[in-house]
Amino acid sequence: MTTAPAELLAIAVDAARAAGRHACEQRHRRGEAHQRLAHDVKLALDVECQGIAEAIIRKRAPAQAILGEESPGEAGCVDSGTPLWIIDPIDGTVNFSHGLPFWCCSIAVRLGARALAGTVYAPDLNELYTATADGPALCNGAPLRVSSVAAVSEALIMTGLDKHVDPRMPPFEIFRAISVQAQKARIEGSAALDLCRVASGQADAFFESGIYIWDIAAGALIVERAGGRAELLGELGRGRLSFLASNGLIHEAIRNIINPQPNPA
Ligand code: IPD
Repeated sequence: MTTAPAELLAIAVDAARAAGRHACEQRHRRGEAHQRLAHDVKLALDVECQGIAEAIIRKRAPAQAILGEESPGEAGCVDSGTPLWIIDPIDGTVNFSHGLPFWCCSIAVRLGARALAGTVYAPDLNELYTATADGPALCNGAPLRVSSVAAVSEALIMTGLDKHVDPRMPPFEIFRAISVQAQKARIEGSAALDLCRVASGQADAFFESGIYIWDIAAGALIVERAGGRAELLGELGRGRLSFLASNGLIHEAIRNIINPQPNPA
């Protein structure tokens, strides 16, 4: 059973490329839905792309566990010595279903809490992001570096709005607080790609509450290996997370906006 990051990354890249290729070849079926929810949709292609990625992983890393957006219960209790593959076959599903190009396939491999390898593949943008625990973050083979923006007032902050309003993390209030202090707040609709924007220095931070591990597992490693910081702020129940990533320089300032400190006066 391999745990070598470079070998795991090669498998992850092949799986993400194959899943992305299938979504592109079948995009005329992007309206085929298994389930339509308020503010979300479960596409037939989500399930098919996950199956394609899983088949490649199971063939080349047979003894390892898989947790996917489309099979969230399957990982069960994975012991900390077994690598866990975390797949979001189409992150940005709603974008994809409307024909917007901001979607990707995100695959990470973890051993316990440690990410070993991760990739985010955005076929419509022709962007393949990769990182390993012991190597650099790359986009199409070119090194990535987070920005040097040190003030929130000069920062572009990517975010998303939680679909389930949680009184601990009221989405519109937090969005408003961020957007009045940042240069701009942006919602592009794919958390995994948002994280890659932070890694590449195009954005300075990403925050979302109500997000799932498969949305952020690969992107968090890519941000860290590009010199940034990724932080789990809290668990909201049912697998939903509150998560912040940044270039490092504005991290504390953004955390304070999200969780305002009590005024000493
Ligand atoms: C969603 C996207 C979106 C984020 C949502 C996620 P999905 O993932 O990452 O940007 O705001 O919270 O659920 O459903 O398209 O895989």
